[in-house]
Amino acid sequence: MDADRFRSLAETASPDLRQKLLILPAIIADWAEPHGGLAGRRIMDFGCGLGELAAGLAYAEPTASVVGLEVTDQPDGLPAVLKPLGLIPPANLSFRTVPLGEVGDEDDFDLIVSWSVFEHVQRNQFDAVVAGLKTRLKPGGLLFMQVSPLFFSPEGSHLWALGYTDWQHLTRELSEVREDLEASSLNERQRELHWKLFLRLNRFTALDFDARLHAPGFTALRRQVDRVDREPPAELLTAYTREALTTEQIVLLLRRD
Ligand SMILES: C[S@@+](CC[C@H](N)C(=O)[O-])C[C@H]1O[C@@H](n2cnc3c(N)ncnc32)[C@H](O)[C@@H]1O
Repeated sequence: MDADRFRSLAETASPDLRQKLLILPAIIADWAEPHGGLAGRRIMDFGCGLGELAAGLAYAEPTASVVGLEVTDQPDGLPAVLKPLGLIPPANLSFRTVPLGEVGDEDDFDLIVSWSVFEHVQRNQFDAVVAGLKTRLKPGGLLFMQVSPLFFSPEGSHLWALGYTDWQHLTRELSEVREDLEASSLNERQRELHWKLFLRLNRFTALDFDARLHAPGFTALRRQVDRVDREPPAELLTAYTREALTTEQIVLLLRRD
């Protein structure tokens, strides 16, 4: 299927799916463009989830080959997500399952993309994961990483299911957060998944990500930080910096030396 036909079918997707199939690949293409673009590139999507973004990259650039890495079996669900749009996973897309903390055994990637994943990589594995990803890149290869929402920002708990969009995870006791989960309409399995996800967020700030990713062997090419234009609760400003509380997204592009 050519890229135009894909675009017209993907335009009919729900807003969330359209974002992953069309908007995010376009953002990544824009960041990569001054450094050789996506055409003909070998691309890894680290922590690809269902693989919609990986599929979007593969559809948009048929000469690229895209490999999605995941610790779960979520990519098995991709065909069912694409089917209602009249799409099937493109031939230049494949998936690998990796154990938590590992980065697969393939190398020579031109570009590694990581969208909303690095906040989930545990602290004691983080530096090894970044070092591992670096070795998977060709010299001169690019690492594009995005994290949002950052932990100390209004939605940093990732607990949207509880309506936590105003720093509630920082103003409530942990026991109250657990009680809110118990009182929610989520089923038992979803409650446990949400609780584990929340407990395992690494709580890195934008400055922490900067420090850990500007590691030896990487040169920073571009950085973007986005802030919310909202006033944090006064009680939090005595404990956390305004910068940490209002910075909701960091995007970095690095080049392996
Ligand atoms: C919020 S989802 C983002 C999925 C996808 N990147 C997207 O934007 O749709 C986070 C994903 O990271 C994966 N993940 C978490 N820790 C990981 C790790 N250490 N290695 C690889 N994937 C990981 C999770 O399984 C999950 O699929």
